[in-house]
Amino acid sequence: MKRALVDRFAHGVLAAACALSVLTLAACGQEESTPSHDAFTPTPEQVAHGRYLVKAADCAACHTSQDGAPFAGGVKIASPYGAFYGSNITPDKQHGIGNWSADDFYRALHDGNARGKHLYPSMPYTSYRQLTRADSDAIYAYLMTVKQAPVENHAHDLKFPYNLRFGMALWDMVFLKDTLPDASAGQSADWQRGRYLANALGHCAECHTPRNFAGQLVDAKPLSGAALGRVIAPDITPAGLAARGWTAADLQRFFSVGIAPQGSAFGEMYPVVHLSTQYLTNDDVRALGVYLLGDTPPAPQPLPAVSADGAALAAGRSVYLAVCAGCHGLAGEGKPHVAVAMNGNSTLRQADPHNLLVAMLDGIDTQKFAGVENMQAMPAFASTLSDEELAQLANYLRATWGGQAANVAAGDVKALR
Ligand code: HEC
Ligand code: HEC
Ligand code: HEC
Repeated sequence: MKRALVDRFAHGVLAAACALSVLTLAACGQEESTPSHDAFTPTPEQVAHGRYLVKAADCAACHTSQDGAPFAGGVKIASPYGAFYGSNITPDKQHGIGNWSADDFYRALHDGNARGKHLYPSMPYTSYRQLTRADSDAIYAYLMTVKQAPVENHAHDLKFPYNLRFGMALWDMVFLKDTLPDASAGQSADWQRGRYLANALGHCAECHTPRNFAGQLVDAKPLSGAALGRVIAPDITPAGLAARGWTAADLQRFFSVGIAPQGSAFGEMYPVVHLSTQYLTNDDVRALGVYLLGDTPPAPQPLPAVSADGAALAAGRSVYLAVCAGCHGLAGEGKPHVAVAMNGNSTLRQADPHNLLVAMLDGIDTQKFAGVENMQAMPAFASTLSDEELAQLANYLRATWGGQAANVAAGDVKALR
């Protein structure tokens, strides 16, 4: 599920770090001493706070497998370099972190250093580094109360040279940063809180900020969108969001329910909403929206009119009426509890048709949204519609309800099959 996150970081990172490390092997391979197990007596408030933070930071996404015990690990995170597996982080002494002190735990989240073992950034310590010590202690306190699961850790299955863990020490020295840059401007209490929620806890940048040759985040382009695996994480800077019609209120709806007038969360964003943001308090969801748009949000842009060839659009419309309108409505208005609106949908409003084409080709499995907002599955059309038909359809949707040029060619569809 988090596969794409790792795909992007893994490309280049490990190769560069490992290659360089061969030169400095002695220094990089050195294990650091483990601090002693200090006394730690958490308060009930600390435990409750930790439980909330674990949701906000989405630890379960990578540490709780679908059929496994909570936080017992085993979640497979595939990448072109092999598979990573989330670790057992229950208090089990043999397989989990039962022997860890609060100091050990903080060093793992803050430095990517698990009692002398350098973690791969498939564990997003690159973001968690910004967590306060108090919040790290609360998370630790909560995890120490979950049921011990005597589940052995699954070894990563990485190809050479990516299996050489010591390379990560060098990567950390070069690329690990104390703070992440902001895409928006603000000073309000909400903005500050939202910044912490987005950057330290929610690790939004790990998917939404583009990466450089060695897998490090591009500081000059925070949250400006990045090519993930199959579904691209769009630009969520203030300008990018406003260009697709987002308001602070609609963002709040999206984070707490998963469905807004601009559409629903899908691809890698679905688990973010499903496991994490839907559990945030109203105050925190509001803060997240304020941080994304800034203290002075840009006005949401109306749909621009697009000139396009009438005959070509008519061909696309007839496909739409035949296979899509039953769910998405004759006027693209959507149907409550059946399907989202196409008129003004943010996926249609992206200049890059990638996510629109992928949604049509692959469909979207049944997803559970907060409250009563469950929808049915969106069927896949890869085997029933031709490249030509899908391109016509994409052009019709983009020009009519997305304010985007009708410039999709059959070849663009073919490339994504
Ligand atoms: C995007 C996936 C992902 C998320 C989210 C994530 N982790 Fe991890 N975590 C991993 C992976 C993968 C490893 C193993 C990394 C390695 O072996 O280098 C790991 C390792 C760890 C370890 C080291 C365990 C050991 O025995 O070495 C700890 C502790 C940990 N995670 C805690 C957390 C906590 C707490 C959270 C939430 C605040 C969290 N993780 C969120 C993927 C994730
Ligand atoms: C059986 C009903 C159904 C049909 C038929 C259908 N869709 Fe969907 N579609 C959905 C549902 C439901 C979602 C939202 C899924 C979710 O997020 O869980 C969706 C989502 C989408 C999305 C992603 C946007 C978003 O905000 O989630 C696009 C794009 C889309 N549909 C386009 C189409 C096109 C084009 C067709 C015709 C080729 C089509 N759909 C046919 C039900 C349908
Ligand atoms: C694991 C990768 C991943 C993480 C982590 C992630 N996102 Fe996303 N996000 C995506 C993808 C992929 C999409 C595109 C699919 C969609 O629109 O639902 C997306 C879509 C969105 C959208 C909708 C944009 C639009 O115009 O449709 C918003 C808003 C958003 N993310 C905000 C956030 C915030 C805030 C966080 C951190 C709390 C976050 N995301 C964390 C992958 C991720």
